[in-house]
Amino acid sequence: MVHLRSLILLLTITLWPFSGLCQFCDSGLGYCNSESALPSKILIKGGTVVNADHQEVADVYVEDGIIVAVRPNIKVADGVRVLDAKGKFVMPGGIDPHTHLAMEFMGTETIDNFFSGQAAALAGGTTMHIDFVIPVNGSLSKGFEAYVEKSKLSCMDYGFHMAITKWDDIVPKEMEIMVNEKGINSFKFFLAYKGSLMISDELLLEGLKKCKSLGALAMVHAENGDAVFEGQRRMIELGITGPEGHALSRPPVLEGEATARAIRLAAFVNTPLYVVHVMSSDAMEEIARAQKSGQKVIGEPVVSGLILDDSVLWDPDFVTAAKFVMSPPIRALGHGKALQAALSTGVLKLVGTDHCTFNSTQKSLGIDDFRKIPNGVNGLEERMHLVWDTMVESGQISATDYVRVTSTECAKLFNIYPRKGAILAGSDADIIIFNPNSTFQISAHSHHSRSDTNVYEGRSGKGKVEVTIAGGRIVWENEELKVVPGSGRYISMPPFNYLYHGINKADANYLTSLKAPVNRI
Ligand code: URP
Ligand code: ZN
Ligand code: ZN
Repeated sequence: MVHLRSLILLLTITLWPFSGLCQFCDSGLGYCNSESALPSKILIKGGTVVNADHQEVADVYVEDGIIVAVRPNIKVADGVRVLDAKGKFVMPGGIDPHTHLAMEFMGTETIDNFFSGQAAALAGGTTMHIDFVIPVNGSLSKGFEAYVEKSKLSCMDYGFHMAITKWDDIVPKEMEIMVNEKGINSFKFFLAYKGSLMISDELLLEGLKKCKSLGALAMVHAENGDAVFEGQRRMIELGITGPEGHALSRPPVLEGEATARAIRLAAFVNTPLYVVHVMSSDAMEEIARAQKSGQKVIGEPVVSGLILDDSVLWDPDFVTAAKFVMSPPIRALGHGKALQAALSTGVLKLVGTDHCTFNSTQKSLGIDDFRKIPNGVNGLEERMHLVWDTMVESGQISATDYVRVTSTECAKLFNIYPRKGAILAGSDADIIIFNPNSTFQISAHSHHSRSDTNVYEGRSGKGKVEVTIAGGRIVWENEELKVVPGSGRYISMPPFNYLYHGINKADANYLTSLKAPVNRI
């Protein structure tokens, strides 16, 4: 079915007559390539195969998009493409749990769509991502349909989370449909963005209860939106209208407060909670405290929060400063280091990007008022390199931990392991060959995003994704992308992940502990 669809799209691309531009990505990016559409047999020889729990020297044999065997000295017939991986790591392709492709937000739309964003991801060793569907006027089904359209451009596998932006009699019914029929197993609640995406505590409580009944994972954007609104007013009154006002208007205490509040409400409902883009030690410490008390709370740092600091927002050049505007904001030096430590000890579990890219023209919407700068930074292409360089090269985590935080934990949380997140016989052939002795360089001149800026401009470091295999096709090799719009598959994600184990027993224990109602005659 998928191959047939690829073939049809491939034909359409080939026959597209009069333009140098691809009709799907409309960009002239130049990496639509049909050769990779054919199913292939690949043998990866002699590399160190790294999974989240184990590493060993072995060959990996792939046929028709699936890993068929993982063991030393695999012999194959002629006609199999052999890739030499001696001295290199063979790891599961990255899975980014947090992206916004073609998202309409703050009066504009993110510059990377499902083609350019995914092409960039593949060039950086990420082979799957989970994007946030935004409802249309609160309607989940309309939002889902819109994202089905947007994602027709996909050149790699992807799944969906869904945001909940209002509550009425229809929304909980639509949540049921999303979980039971559409393959969505997580819902995001925004406690910030007053006047657009923000919801009340009352709605959050309803949402948490509904998530629990469906076995879906509740996710929160944790900032106190009312206080942010007040903070923004204060900055404007002080005459601070530039990008630094963004950081000053929403300090870490507002992230800590909202994180604590969401955690306590999830505890009250006794349902698991996933805190997205943890940017401050204030929020991280709330998560650590809850975990210590036994609560099931997952914290997701993003690359920008781990490695950047807020000094960039004070840059005298507006375009340079504005490209770093995201929410919660990039924090003062020290927060990132604390988040890295929390990732290394397991308090924070998996790394996302929150890839939500706007070019410098779009960022200039807020030239006179930081409140109008579209919020978001890039990271899809850079995540795998930067996490390796920052966390593994510095000795903070091992190669197996690296696989866990960039791929396996995401697959487990969203219930698609071991199809994804593992180099095992039977898993999807989403694989990277990573050379730890090579180096990477980042620049907007060479990246594959459609943006004209990159928040990691000029960075370099150790380790390089030399080959990316997605769905059994070699899509990145010799610094060249070969991707086909429409070849990516939607990955359905079932409910009741491992965090739900034991929830019923805990509820039963709670009920017996009440010793109520008291039987009074
Ligand atoms: O600044 C950000 N994070 N933009 C994307 C929307 C969100 O809050 O995740
Ligand atoms: Zn958010
Ligand atoms: Zn986001």
